[in-house]
Amino acid sequence: MRIDKLSVDNFRNLKNVYIEFNKNINIFYGDNAQGKTSILESIYFCATGRSHKTHIDKSVINFDENEAHLQVFVYDDTIYDKIDVHLKKDLKKGIAVNNMTVRKIGELFGVLHIVLFAPEDLSLVKSGPSVRRKFLDLEMCQLSKIYYYDLKQYYKVLKQRNNLLKDIQKNNELRETLFVWDSQLIEFGIKLIRHRKKFVESISKIAYVIHKDITGKKECLDIVYKPSVFENEFEKKLVKYRDKDIFYGSTSIGPHKDDIAFLINGFDAKDYGSQGQQRTAALCAKLAEIEIIEKEKNTSPVLLLDDVLSELDEKRQSFLLERIKDTQVIITCTGIEEIIKKTGGNVRLFFVENGTVSILP
Ligand SMILES: Nc1ncnc2c1ncn2[C@@H]1O[C@H](COP(=O)(O)OP(=O)(O)OP(=O)(O)O)[C@@H](O)[C@H]1O
Ligand SMILES: [Mg+2]
Repeated sequence: MRIDKLSVDNFRNLKNVYIEFNKNINIFYGDNAQGKTSILESIYFCATGRSHKTHIDKSVINFDENEAHLQVFVYDDTIYDKIDVHLKKDLKKGIAVNNMTVRKIGELFGVLHIVLFAPEDLSLVKSGPSVRRKFLDLEMCQLSKIYYYDLKQYYKVLKQRNNLLKDIQKNNELRETLFVWDSQLIEFGIKLIRHRKKFVESISKIAYVIHKDITGKKECLDIVYKPSVFENEFEKKLVKYRDKDIFYGSTSIGPHKDDIAFLINGFDAKDYGSQGQQRTAALCAKLAEIEIIEKEKNTSPVLLLDDVLSELDEKRQSFLLERIKDTQVIITCTGIEEIIKKTGGNVRLFFVENGTVSILP
């Protein structure tokens, strides 16, 4: 899969940008705060229907404008798709694929598969669990519409249960009705737990091999799923923690508290790994993501690398570039010389300045 063309109007500081991409490597180069990340963010928005930087859609619209518009053309073998995103300050966002309105975001997933690797991903291992859950969910939603639906339902039920817990604090009689939300929370929660377990197992298997390669077979990486509660104990524990949940007005167990751990030679890299080991583990997880999409969807995703190359050492940079040879890559960076030397091959260079993009010879 590859992006052919992108046009961006009034998105962040990009006023009016049109880009034709190379099918291999595309490098966006420029000083800080010129619009490089915003280009990747606009692509991310077209692929997932949201920004990776904010959950407030309107904040991506240019300060001086009321609307933003994105349009991307995607090739996948013989299929040519167009995605349109329309953002308005006072209305809900509108998304269309091949001029057909997307009513549920789930319908958008899969039209453009992307894997984004941003500087914050390098701290995937040492960040809090919510960052790792986001990593899981984003990937799994792109891969499975069923997962996306179950996740949405789970969070809807969770919100309603939490509201009821707060109401019970004021009116104890409402306790009787809690079972309604409990049974739905368990129903969707178990689906998420099963799905996540399977996904983490497959990503772990792939990342293990990649990691062996990077570390010259010296270290073993295992990614393990750490559910907040096992599926066969979910019901029992919801009852056990009921009083506590009512006291705090929030649900203390369930997939919304899940985590994953990165074990290097059996030890959790979060607590024992060096910064380099943590970054390598994160890199392996990201590379495994690409392979999973290739296997399950029979197409290679577009890889978005936001300023991460400069954060990796020489060996890891070369390893990464070697592995993604057959993928379309969109790279942002502030210095080009070193990167160009390493990428070799088919590169298109773009210069980004003050929200405008020009192609370099
Ligand atoms: N809604 C908005 N309207 C206009 N400008 C915005 C908006 N949101 C952010 N900006 C500005 O857009 C500019 C480009 O940001 P971006 O993150 O794309 O820069 P960058 O080129 O990736 O820089 P860096 O190299 O520092 O990562 C910044 O100056 C930012 O303040
Ligand atoms: Mg940036």
